[in-house]
Amino acid sequence: MLPSVAVLIYNTSGQLTSFPVFLPVIVKKLNSLLQNDSNVGCQSHSRVMKDEIQNSLSRKKLLIQHMKRCSHIKQCAFSGCNSGLLSKRNAVILSNKKFLRGAKNALLKHAPHRCKTDCSFQCRSYVTKTVNEALVDWTEKLEGAAVPEARLSAEYIIAHILRVPRKELNVLGGSGLSEDVLCEAERLLTCRMTRMPLQYIIGDWDFHSVTIKVRPPVFIPRPETEQLVDLALECLRGVQAPRVLDIGCGSGAISLALIKNISDLKCVAMDHSRHAIELTEENASLLGVRQRLTVVHGKVTMDRLPKLPYDEFDLIVSNPPYVLRKDLMSVQPEIMIYEDMRALDGGKDGLEVIKPILTLFQHLLPVGNSLLLEIDPCHQYLLPEWMKTQKSMKLKLSDVIEDYSGKARFVKLVRIS
Ligand SMILES: C[S@@+](CC[C@H](N)C(=O)[O-])C[C@H]1O[C@@H](n2cnc3c(N)ncnc32)[C@H](O)[C@@H]1O
Repeated sequence: MLPSVAVLIYNTSGQLTSFPVFLPVIVKKLNSLLQNDSNVGCQSHSRVMKDEIQNSLSRKKLLIQHMKRCSHIKQCAFSGCNSGLLSKRNAVILSNKKFLRGAKNALLKHAPHRCKTDCSFQCRSYVTKTVNEALVDWTEKLEGAAVPEARLSAEYIIAHILRVPRKELNVLGGSGLSEDVLCEAERLLTCRMTRMPLQYIIGDWDFHSVTIKVRPPVFIPRPETEQLVDLALECLRGVQAPRVLDIGCGSGAISLALIKNISDLKCVAMDHSRHAIELTEENASLLGVRQRLTVVHGKVTMDRLPKLPYDEFDLIVSNPPYVLRKDLMSVQPEIMIYEDMRALDGGKDGLEVIKPILTLFQHLLPVGNSLLLEIDPCHQYLLPEWMKTQKSMKLKLSDVIEDYSGKARFVKLVRIS
């Protein structure tokens, strides 16, 4: 019996490297055809492809043939006609877009008896570009729109859609991309064109030792803050069951990295933003550490301490808003448009939130314990000057630590009395 639906598979590059991308698309398509119609015939010009398809299909009833000596889709289509595989009802051709017209014309020319008025060809393109072609194309588009790190953005987006590590794109360079993948990539690249940060587009991001969800407008954790986590881990070395307070937790990045690295650590994460609180809770649940994190919705002000579950902490850590207001206007559009500016705005001198942190939260540190802060480089001078004017100050600036680019980025303050 002739199959009622014929599927011709023409692998554009004909290379094995195409398989990881191309094969699932074909298998999905064939499975859906098989669900509706048990009488599906299939031909592939590549024997390896044919075997792979046969092995991957959930139903083995598919009539699948290897087309010999088909180096071109026209031949492939012609061979489909001659072998009797093509019925007069349907031909589904999975191939590169540019070959489809040729295939359809070949069928009309060489097998007109199969192409009467009742004949409908479903010439579908499932592979239209290789990974390399798409990367070159999108990099150009992003550069044309003056998007920074154009190539990197394109790589991250395509790797994200294909669910492969970015480095593996080298191996997949010649593989074809399905129309679905291309559609999704177009959508995400358009977001990038409007300067949406890559992290929000991808939706999750690696920070220190954890992968966390990120979404607008919650502050995206920055690479330099990973160093703050390392400094915190150093401070906590040897402390049994430490309790840590993370002020301005954002996505929960710092708290969660600390929890991940010290098995008996408990953390209190506070933030004044509801979005941040919800995201921190979500991230803690996703990482399976919800029990070890108390999330507090509260605002740091000079008035009073927010209500917290513990009276004392082994360490307080914070990456507060510390950007000087005069510098806020020069931040990238990615930040200006998508991130909550209150996460960055430290007021006139960048110390608007830092000052109440020192004044009020110092009381939660027993003598000898530390407060670690991320700061603007100018704060290494401004902060000690201001501290000298505070009679009730019980903290001493013990260290100023540079980030990996050589800027004074962190301070360690110790409770001395
Ligand atoms: C620079 S972000 C740091 C977020 C996170 N800790 C990180 O490193 O990715 C500062 C965070 O502090 C929060 N914040 C700003 N002002 C605050 C205040 N007065 N009280 C509590 N949280 C505040 C913001 O909502 C934001 O999530």
